[in-house]
Amino acid sequence: MPATIDPHPVSTPAVGSSGRTAITVARGDGIGPEIMDSVLFLLREAGARLDLETIEIGAQMHARGHSAGIEPGAWESLRRTGVFLKAPITTPQGTGVKSLNVTIRKTLGLYANVRPCRTWHPFVPTSHPDMNVVVIRENEEDTYGGIEHRQTPEVTQCLKLISRPGTEKLVRYAFEYARRHGRRRVSCFTKDNIMKLTDGLFHRVFREVAAAYPELESEHRIIDIGTARLAKDPLAFDVLVLPNLFGDIVSDVAAELAGSVGLAGSANIGETCAMFEAVHGSAPDIAGRDLANPSGLLHAAVMMLEHLEQGDVAERLHNAWLCTIEDGIHTVDVAPPTERHRAVGTRAFTQAVAERMGRVPGVLPAAEHLSDRSPRSIVAATRRPRPQKSLVGVDVFFDWDESERRAEVLASRLEPVAGAAWRLSMITNRGVKVYPGGLPETFCTDHWRCRFLAADGRSSVTHAEVVGLLGRLAEAGLDFVKTEHLCTFDGERGYSLGQGE
Ligand code: NAI
Ligand code: MG
Repeated sequence: MPATIDPHPVSTPAVGSSGRTAITVARGDGIGPEIMDSVLFLLREAGARLDLETIEIGAQMHARGHSAGIEPGAWESLRRTGVFLKAPITTPQGTGVKSLNVTIRKTLGLYANVRPCRTWHPFVPTSHPDMNVVVIRENEEDTYGGIEHRQTPEVTQCLKLISRPGTEKLVRYAFEYARRHGRRRVSCFTKDNIMKLTDGLFHRVFREVAAAYPELESEHRIIDIGTARLAKDPLAFDVLVLPNLFGDIVSDVAAELAGSVGLAGSANIGETCAMFEAVHGSAPDIAGRDLANPSGLLHAAVMMLEHLEQGDVAERLHNAWLCTIEDGIHTVDVAPPTERHRAVGTRAFTQAVAERMGRVPGVLPAAEHLSDRSPRSIVAATRRPRPQKSLVGVDVFFDWDESERRAEVLASRLEPVAGAAWRLSMITNRGVKVYPGGLPETFCTDHWRCRFLAADGRSSVTHAEVVGLLGRLAEAGLDFVKTEHLCTFDGERGYSLGQGE
């Protein structure tokens, strides 16, 4: 249909242009090119002041032998413009290829993933008409470091890393976002009743930052009951801030509750760069068939315009979209079941939005996009003095599969070689204490954590003493697979206790 949709419409700067912002664009895979063409056309129609630089990422790049899925020169464009409008890409499955999305977020330091989950009742079906939640998810840390190991034939591990500066940047961003968007309450979900150090740090930083925003309500909930409450009563929530893995799950739950997964956009915010994309993927099942809904990427573009302080353009574009929805014009994925036969294709939908530029919706609240709402430059984590650190012990992990896996047998092999500096304080198997004490019912794998503390009468140990201990363990034929140092920081214990310790 319309030849009016030009794939690169905004790229030609107006003669003598000023006030235009360069952005980097990637058209992606699957439905990516179709929805990007639609959104770039609508950006031009709305009067966006943009100069485009197009880069290639995704499947074509993999096919051309760029294993990372991105051409090396693309980083240069991303760093120069600092703004990335990205269509979805296909992640090759099961080939060991790392997710390019994760690589981009981490390489550019995009620490906050912002996902508004709101409804457009009664024009888009939802069971929670008034839901309007923004999920702000940590984007770089947690288990997403992908640091995984197989340690024994039976046991694998994934490291969960939570940092104070990473958390602080994110939580400050969330509160600043809430303040600037006129939101009233920030809720934090963690599992700090179990993960007392990692999630405990996230929760503690949340409390510290909340104290600087007395006008905003703040609350913490344990992730499981918090998510259950969100599913039952989403109106009780406003802004949510979460660690990476929980945020990944909860943001999909929230988007699904709002009934708008296919309509949702998201922003990935860093200190110097930001990336804007739809929440959905490359939908290869409908690619090239004029069926894709461009609305998710359009909402991402609206967030981008706000970030670029082009709030006037954001409003024009968003209001035209709202009018289209109000007029009952839908792509097939969101059309109410009774209206499916009247659904339109990507191009006709795009044209309908373009025809409504300059109008404001009659029923839905008109969009308001203030130009100074993007809290990007005000969040820098505070640097703290380094605490006094003291090494007080070591956890040594063993691959051990002898003597019917009886912990007291392992202990009898360890104690004679521990040496004068050390005391074997306990052995656990998958975190359950099996020595001293322990019950025969406890199921044991081949993976044992043996805690050595500084011998009685000593307050600390040295690295040389750790090396000495490991040397003796090796001589005794014991297969240690990992060590973790046990430290105190300004006298505060920096490790979890075993039961009964
Ligand atoms: P998907 O979101 O691409 O598709 C799920 C279902 O929703 C499909 O039936 C699809 O047709 C439909 N759908 C998605 N977007 C739509 C739209 N705009 N209009 C109408 N229908 C739409 O998720 P899936 O199938 O799990 O993943 C496909 C590929 O996308 C995978 O390679 C995945 O890794 C990748 N992906 C990429 C993302 C990104 O680049 N940010 C995010 C999520 C997935
Ligand atoms: Mg996800």
